[in-house]
Amino acid sequence: MIQLSNAGKRFGHKLLYENLNWLITPNERSGLVGGNGTGKSTLLKVIGGMDTLDMGDLTQTKGVTTGYLPQDGLSLSGRTVFTEVMSVFDRLRALEVEMEALTHSMPELDPSTPEYAAVADRFHRIESEFTAHDGYALESQAGTVLTGLGFKKEDWTRRTEEFSGGWQMRISLAKLLLEKPNMLLLDEPTNHLDLEARNWLEDYLKNYPYAFILISHDRYFLDVTVNKIVEIWNKGVHFYSGNYEKFLTEKEMRKTTLEAAYKNQHGALRQTAPSSYVRTLARSWSGARPNGVRQRRGGGRRSCRRRRCRLQAMMPGPFPMAGRVPAPATRAAYMLATE
Ligand SMILES: Nc1ncnc2c1ncn2[C@@H]1O[C@H](COP(=O)(O)OP(=O)(O)O)[C@@H](O)[C@H]1O
Ligand SMILES: [Mg+2]
Repeated sequence: MIQLSNAGKRFGHKLLYENLNWLITPNERSGLVGGNGTGKSTLLKVIGGMDTLDMGDLTQTKGVTTGYLPQDGLSLSGRTVFTEVMSVFDRLRALEVEMEALTHSMPELDPSTPEYAAVADRFHRIESEFTAHDGYALESQAGTVLTGLGFKKEDWTRRTEEFSGGWQMRISLAKLLLEKPNMLLLDEPTNHLDLEARNWLEDYLKNYPYAFILISHDRYFLDVTVNKIVEIWNKGVHFYSGNYEKFLTEKEMRKTTLEAAYKNQHGALRQTAPSSYVRTLARSWSGARPNGVRQRRGGGRRSCRRRRCRLQAMMPGPFPMAGRVPAPATRAAYMLATE
């Protein structure tokens, strides 16, 4: 698990977020959305340990392995495509070599000695780890992922520097998928993928055994891969269970409810505190007591006006992606519908 507590990040005078709380569980399958420049990429880097917070804490339990695919800026060189992706298995391949050596040394030892027991114990531990990672099929795993991401067999022996940025991104994505981190963080992975590779990646992620967080502008991709949307908005995160389509509906509902609450409050300026319903709603949005929806006793017209401004600030802004039509069941239908 990874926990962000009262997290905040700024670049110079620009505050991206503050008081951000998010418990990222081993079952996380989230789409991180928000307008351009709201800090999605920065947040993913913070979670992956590539950037740091300016406020609050990030803690993670032992055993979490993060794997991060950046949005851009990748550059690989010096190896063939196949050697490059196989490099993620260097440790497993070293274990294989050690297993081989242990197999040769065992017959030379007396089985009644502690040395033999130690060697046998080491062998069994290594072998179980090797098998758990499907170590006897490393090359076929690499081949499956490379093919899925669109590399023809003749490309496997070409050097990575011969490929464009988009294809280098595919090589890096292949490496990450083969590494199988238990917290996979992908920033716009579909940007450089054609339809076939996107479909393959969707299926791969559907069967991915660990947690992942995706940033994507491809609504269909999110609809079929995630079960939670985390939106960065108004310098905080807001959680919506379900896929992207459900997020749009739910967001519209929250907006309508809040607008109604705002109108009510607008008409009752002298009221000293926002209704408990609005407070509850506001808390449920952020998972924490938001700024400005604190109950104030007394304060009269001035504090009531201030509260109204804050409520206004909580109103959902424009949607990060265009189109509010329900997503059709297939990508082909989706493409037709949005043409
Ligand atoms: N290293 C940096 N130094 C200064 N400003 C940055 C840096 N990285 C990102 N920013 C700024 O922070 C804001 C959020 O960036 P980013 O996380 O890339 O947003 P998003 O991925 O949501 O589009 C942008 O205004 C961007 O210009
Ligand atoms: Mg970004």
